[in-house]
Amino acid sequence: MPTSRRIETDLAAAVSSAIPGLDRLREAAAGAPLFLVGGGVRDLMLDRRPVALDVAVKGDAAAVAQRLGGDVLEHERFLTAATRLGDWQLDLTSTRTETYPAPGALPEVKPASLEEDLARRDFTVNAIAWPLQGEPQLIDPHSGRSDLESGLLRVLHERSFVDDPTRALRAARYAARLGFELERRTAELLKEADLGSVSADRRAAELLKIALEPEAASGLQLAAEWGLVRPRHGAAELLPAVDALLAQPPWSEIAARPRAMLVAGLGPVGRETELAAAAPSRPSEAVELARDARPEELLLARAMGAEWLDDYVRDWRHVALEIDGSDLVAAGVPEGPAVGRGLEEALRRKLDGKITGRDQEMRVALEAAGQGGAGNEDPEDDDGVA
Ligand code: CTP
Repeated sequence: MPTSRRIETDLAAAVSSAIPGLDRLREAAAGAPLFLVGGGVRDLMLDRRPVALDVAVKGDAAAVAQRLGGDVLEHERFLTAATRLGDWQLDLTSTRTETYPAPGALPEVKPASLEEDLARRDFTVNAIAWPLQGEPQLIDPHSGRSDLESGLLRVLHERSFVDDPTRALRAARYAARLGFELERRTAELLKEADLGSVSADRRAAELLKIALEPEAASGLQLAAEWGLVRPRHGAAELLPAVDALLAQPPWSEIAARPRAMLVAGLGPVGRETELAAAAPSRPSEAVELARDARPEELLLARAMGAEWLDDYVRDWRHVALEIDGSDLVAAGVPEGPAVGRGLEEALRRKLDGKITGRDQEMRVALEAAGQGGAGNEDPEDDDGVA
């Protein structure tokens, strides 16, 4: 049963304090009615900071954006214009309706009333408007406020997921982020959402948005539980483990979090199982195993329990020789594979702590390259050069 939330009642005060540039925006509207809509109203009512501000304009959104100035990005086809208002990303939209020429296709857009504009939206909690001029009064024709209080995601009509199946993935993102649940009928309708009718690019873009959230692990898990994506084997354990590793160095520096979370949740499967099963007995062996692995493979293998990879990413992968190929060539080694052999062997010995310093590196490298009679640095060590 969803819990009840405290909802901000003094929205006028919350809006003015969150958006210090409001007067500039009102001026730029030049009389066109403005409404805060979507995530902006939802988040301020939940006492959260919105990601961006969505403002619906009864009139020409692009003209308002132009009068505000800044780098305006217009999408004439969608009647939208984006710019900045102080620290805020501001998305201005002329109030509009959307019709979907085919399920999953991008909508065709026509100017419309605010009420029609709210009615085209995904969930009731995103279909609330707050006027930015005149009488301060919530415009909430779909009872979004009551769903906000109850923590419920409810679609506005039966065909919502047919029109735009990406809304199912949006639901997973909001549910994870806000700790909301699907209203019963919405959950039934969501089961029928056919993401196959959406282009691969749009699907990938929605999944990336989930992966970018702080609650990415639970968003991807919900998407899997709801049958929207096919999880990789072990995703339920891997996602939180990978998330925890990514919270601090060294792993936070190894892999980009969104991509790593997607791979942990959905694949593709790479070399991680092989790396996780390995138990290298010395650093040179660890480097040999890990050096060609992709960052996500390393991270996932660590999440599967390969603790040796901590040393690899922190220290061993940074170990480099003081000498290079040109030193060997200058000492008489012919250019070609012998140079590589020499350097490889010197690096192995250095990694395993058998040699230090330039002179010892040179001796081992020359010997491994087939030049010079340097002896083994460590008489105990019989795994030396050929
Ligand atoms: N919207 C929709 N259906 C979609 C995409 C967007 O109905 N497929 C509507 C919703 O009302 C949404 C608003 O457009 O609130 C703005 O979209 P977006 O910025 O993607 O959503 P936000 O809720 O603002 O998300 P976030 O908080 O992540 O910015």
